[in-house]
Amino acid sequence: MIYILIAIISYLIGSIPFSYIIGKIFFKKDIRSLGSGNPGTTNVFRNFGPLAGCFTLFLDIAKGLVAVYIPLFFYGNSFALLALVFVIIGHIFSIFLKFKGGKGVATSAGALFAYDLRVFFILLFAFVVVFLITRTVSKASLTAAFLAPFIAYYFYSMHAFTIVIFIVAVFVIVEHRSNIIRIKNNEEKKMF
Ligand code: G3P
Repeated sequence: MIYILIAIISYLIGSIPFSYIIGKIFFKKDIRSLGSGNPGTTNVFRNFGPLAGCFTLFLDIAKGLVAVYIPLFFYGNSFALLALVFVIIGHIFSIFLKFKGGKGVATSAGALFAYDLRVFFILLFAFVVVFLITRTVSKASLTAAFLAPFIAYYFYSMHAFTIVIFIVAVFVIVEHRSNIIRIKNNEEKKMF
């Protein structure tokens, strides 16, 4: 019973579309009709500026962190892993946005931060290095997503965490399919 409850609550937390809410409340615009059309941190940065972008990033990270940290603290690892998967699924397939949503990067970061700081910081390092070199968020996101299962395997071998991270990485990469096409065509926008 508690498993089902954690899955539902995590999904609902992940579903909260902060980028959409911030766009509507502060700018009276639908983020889904602007820029890349993605309701996520990068597109908020692009269209509403750094302050709104940082606010979205903070809230999307907080979703993942809260959803994973609470079950980890009270019930243990397997419940936290379930929360990790469902909070990210909620963000990508938000019940409040007709089962569409962001690409899962910021929420995954928050969830990883709560579950394992070592994995979080290694992936953050890879993200920052690629971002500073390419100035393209999607390239940094894709690099972190590709590396994630390997880093997980390094620390956990073939543990449930590694399988969960592999599944999450597949979701994040598939969500970036339009970015991959733009990267191939040399049309992906740089951030600065
Ligand atoms: O994490 C999302 C980012 O990698 C790409 O977002 O808006 O450029 O499609 P966007």
